[in-house]
Amino acid sequence: MNQQKFSFDFEVYDSIDELSKEDAQLLREAQSVTPNAYAPYSHFHVGAMAKLVNGKTISGTNQENASYPVGICAERVLLSAASSVYPGIAVETIAISYQSEFVESNRPISPCGICRQTLVEYENRFEHPIRLILGGKEGKIYIIPKASMLLPFGFSGKDLEK
Ligand code: THU
Repeated sequence: MNQQKFSFDFEVYDSIDELSKEDAQLLREAQSVTPNAYAPYSHFHVGAMAKLVNGKTISGTNQENASYPVGICAERVLLSAASSVYPGIAVETIAISYQSEFVESNRPISPCGICRQTLVEYENRFEHPIRLILGGKEGKIYIIPKASMLLPFGFSGKDLEK
C-alpha cells in the first residue's frame, strides 16, 4: 500500500477590487445577469458569464421547473449556449455569482457535481482549461485555475476508449 494525496492551489481574494480589471468585469457581468434566472422554487438566482478564447462573452442563468429535477443550473445553461452560439470555440474563464432573498450573497458558491462533470467534458473536448471565478455580490472571491481540479478521479471519455 502507498498513501497518495490529492491537492490543488487556488487563489483567494478579499474583494472584487483585488481582481484584475478583466476578471472584475466578468464577475460584475455574472452578478448583473442573476435577475435573468428563472428560480421561482428555490429563489436562488445564479448568474454565470463566460469569456471565450475568441474574446466573446456569453451568459447563463439557472432555469427551474415545477418538476424540480428538470431544472438546469446556470453553468450548464451557459455551456450549452456557448457551444450552440459559438461552436468549436473553447471557453477560457467563467465567473459565477448569485443572489437570493433568503441567503446572503457574501461568499463564493461552487458548481454542483453534475455541472463539474459537464465543465470537465468541455475542458476535454477543447483541450483547454476553464478558469473559474467564484464570488457573491460581496465577500471573498476564489479563482480556480481549471474546473477539473474540482472533480478528482472524474469519469471521462477516455474511460470509454478501448
Ligand atoms: N444552482 C446553479 O445554477 N448553479 C450552482 O452552482 C448551484 C446551484 C441552481 C440550481 C437551482 O436552480 C438553485 O441554484 C438552487 O439549488
